[in-house]
Amino acid sequence: MRGLGAQLPTTLHLCCPAVIRYNRYGNQKVALGLVQAHVLTAAESLQLIAQEIRGCTRCALHHGRTRAVPGEGPPDARIMLIGEGPGYHEDRQGRPFVGPSGQFLDELLAMAGLRRSDVFIGNVVKCRPPQNRDPQPDEISTCTQAYLFRQIAAIQPKVIVTLGRVSMGLFLPGEKISRIHGQPRTVNGRLVVPMLHPAAALHQPQNRPLIEADFQRLPAILAQAERDAAPTGPAPGDEEPPVQQLSLF
Ligand code: URA
Repeated sequence: MRGLGAQLPTTLHLCCPAVIRYNRYGNQKVALGLVQAHVLTAAESLQLIAQEIRGCTRCALHHGRTRAVPGEGPPDARIMLIGEGPGYHEDRQGRPFVGPSGQFLDELLAMAGLRRSDVFIGNVVKCRPPQNRDPQPDEISTCTQAYLFRQIAAIQPKVIVTLGRVSMGLFLPGEKISRIHGQPRTVNGRLVVPMLHPAAALHQPQNRPLIEADFQRLPAILAQAERDAAPTGPAPGDEEPPVQQLSLF
């Protein structure tokens, strides 16, 4: 079922437009106002994060970028793909996976019965590392804390597909991608499927059948994740939905 996630609140923003009036004796100022709780939708959160990414100067990678690449896809995507970082073409266009490995990714998605517009595609780091070197641990940590983990929290995908070693390392540190690719693992309550990076299959053709077979299993993995997450009815003690506007004064 699509469309629901986009409506779900993800971030709470409080603002307090105070109105200053005199009390009824006219001798003291009092503040009148409402606390308005504006809850950002997933779409609004993603827009805000993307805006921050485009202006980001938190790490040295921003010096070399032409454009930052926040990522793209529906805010209620059930599958989120996470690559390593923008390459030459992505840096030019400000969009993820638009070069040769992006073309191959489109083919892999088609093998899973998916289109690019069905999934959210992001990266561990949002700016291109010089000469496409691996992002460094401090760059990874800065960028993921500031942006990627907030994107995941906004989208709440059922399945995360990591593309390549760097992305896998965020969720499954210490694992070897050659050993566990294609095997779904539950990490913090969410299914993570480590896959080879499409570029690895382009550069080493013997990897191609492996990554194709892993993508072909994606629909079954998603179906299982959705069955596991299906609501089973309200549990005793379930709380009322949060009140969205509170009177303060
Ligand atoms: N490789 C990646 O890891 N990400 C992109 O966006 C493009 C190529």
